[in-house]
Amino acid sequence: MFEGARLGRAVEVRRMVRLASSIGASIERDAKALINLVRLKEKDQYTYLHSVAVCALMINFARHLELDAQQVQDLGVAGLLHDVGKVAVSDEILNKPGALSKGEMQAVRGHPVAGHRLLASSQGAPELALELCLRHHEKVDGTGYPGGLKGEQLSLAARMGAICDVYDAVTSNRPYKQAWTPCEALTEMQKWRGHFDPALLDRFADSLGIYAVGTLVRLSTGELGIVVGSAGEADEDVIVRAFFDCDALAEIDPVDRAIAPSAEHPRIIGRDSPTFWRFPDWDVLRHRILAAKIAPGPEEGDG
Ligand SMILES: [Fe+2]
Repeated sequence: MFEGARLGRAVEVRRMVRLASSIGASIERDAKALINLVRLKEKDQYTYLHSVAVCALMINFARHLELDAQQVQDLGVAGLLHDVGKVAVSDEILNKPGALSKGEMQAVRGHPVAGHRLLASSQGAPELALELCLRHHEKVDGTGYPGGLKGEQLSLAARMGAICDVYDAVTSNRPYKQAWTPCEALTEMQKWRGHFDPALLDRFADSLGIYAVGTLVRLSTGELGIVVGSAGEADEDVIVRAFFDCDALAEIDPVDRAIAPSAEHPRIIGRDSPTFWRFPDWDVLRHRILAAKIAPGPEEGDG
């Protein structure tokens, strides 16, 4: 499709719909498998696999938000097509390590409008795909491009797309940058005030079962803990500092537990609410737990 678009052919939207629905079916079977697979993308396949990844993330996210089936599919197609305007930007600029000149920056920033124009002239592109193409680089504080739209002016599709696009980019290895782990990515993205819709970013994290540093979570050990960092490649590989026993309803000496997708490690059941547990001052408590000196725990068997 990208090659065709580069040569000036119309985008074959019907094939994209078929691809989006098989990606959707694959996610139904195993939500994480495809998303983790495309993280292995190589440089020259970057835009292609980034598009597949954003499609998968959008479908997974849209289902989590319980949007209707047609919207889920259209958002998947939109994910596949969101960066199609990059065919108008030269590879040297797209893959250039380091800072771009003003002119190069302008060329890159033209891709949403170029993509929108390309789709508008192609038959059958869903409205949501045109919208996502044009708006995925807008930010909720109005500092994005091309429109500088703000908050409520941005559609749900635009706000979802901005999150999925950046999340996949920062969790990918690029010629000039090591990938962040999912936990690192979410933690950083939460700090970029004004970039994303914060409530929607939380829903996105829930859609993937990933947790930012500082999140209160419930463990399969019956404890509450705070996410303190990430430990490995898999989405699940994080360290949680357990500090509260839910059965005894009492604090325990903080201990760091390695979470991993294997039977001998505890699992995260889900995000939990400090209000539910009636912690009198959650910020103070969290600060104290995060600052606690931790005795070295028992050695993990599989080192
Ligand atoms: Fe883009």
